[in-house]
Amino acid sequence: MLPWLLFILAAISALALTLRLSRVLEKRENRGWPLRWPIPRKHPRHLDPIFTTTDLGPTLDTLVTYSSSIDVQGGTSDREAWILAVLAKRACTIFEFGTCTGKTTHLLALNAPTAAIIHTLTLAPEQASAYTKAAEDEGHETRAALRASVHTTFVYSGTPVAHKVRQIFSDSKAFDDAPLASTCDLIFIDGSHTASYVRSDSEKALRMLAPGGIIIWHDYRGPWRPRGVYTVLNDLAKKLPLMHIEGTSFVAYRKPLA
Ligand SMILES: C[S@@+](CC[C@H](N)C(=O)[O-])C[C@H]1O[C@@H](n2cnc3c(N)ncnc32)[C@H](O)[C@@H]1O
Repeated sequence: MLPWLLFILAAISALALTLRLSRVLEKRENRGWPLRWPIPRKHPRHLDPIFTTTDLGPTLDTLVTYSSSIDVQGGTSDREAWILAVLAKRACTIFEFGTCTGKTTHLLALNAPTAAIIHTLTLAPEQASAYTKAAEDEGHETRAALRASVHTTFVYSGTPVAHKVRQIFSDSKAFDDAPLASTCDLIFIDGSHTASYVRSDSEKALRMLAPGGIIIWHDYRGPWRPRGVYTVLNDLAKKLPLMHIEGTSFVAYRKPLA
């Protein structure tokens, strides 16, 4: 009887310890702990002065129309959603890689100026065969990308801002970015998280970015998950001044005006 009791106590203690540890890791992951992450972590005011806070917190210039990210498949955190919504307020042409539920698309459309257009690209369920996995890509990230490719109607569908959205169904490697060269004020990269796709989406985004425009990548979460985002962005940071936005999994780049 005693060995069983000890075994059960040990199992409960191990479970409690694991839960505690996962909570600590969860809190610290966006601060680059325990390893140093190569891309410097900065307050969002370094990306745009609109995020400069006072002793009362963010200024009223950062007020946005908002909907929560709670329980949204593949979505952003609430802090990330707020940053995107604030940036959308001054963006006339926006591009999103990876629509998923369209929750972020809706948020961008709600906050962008009246004449703005939001191009959002996603893989339709029947286009799965167009997905081209490279040898370097992780199998589980490929499967995750295809699992997320199930939606054909979206959160923004049928809403008063739906007319601002241009929905594109295509594999992102096959998408022709040339017509949008140097036109986009804000680009959100959140499609497949495998290395070959993050690299291809980033190359297209850099070509589509207007002078003064901003690219935001989602899911820079360290060396373990998703590895493609981490490795490709660390490589890109050797050539471009990327910043990891504090308290988020966002990496950002602003193209110089000149
Ligand atoms: C993480 S979800 C995007 C979440 C969304 N941006 C949001 O904030 O709610 C990833 C999306 O990328 C799309 N995707 C995955 N692989 C793709 C590919 N090869 N081409 C185009 N879209 C792809 C999936 O269909 C899915 O919609």
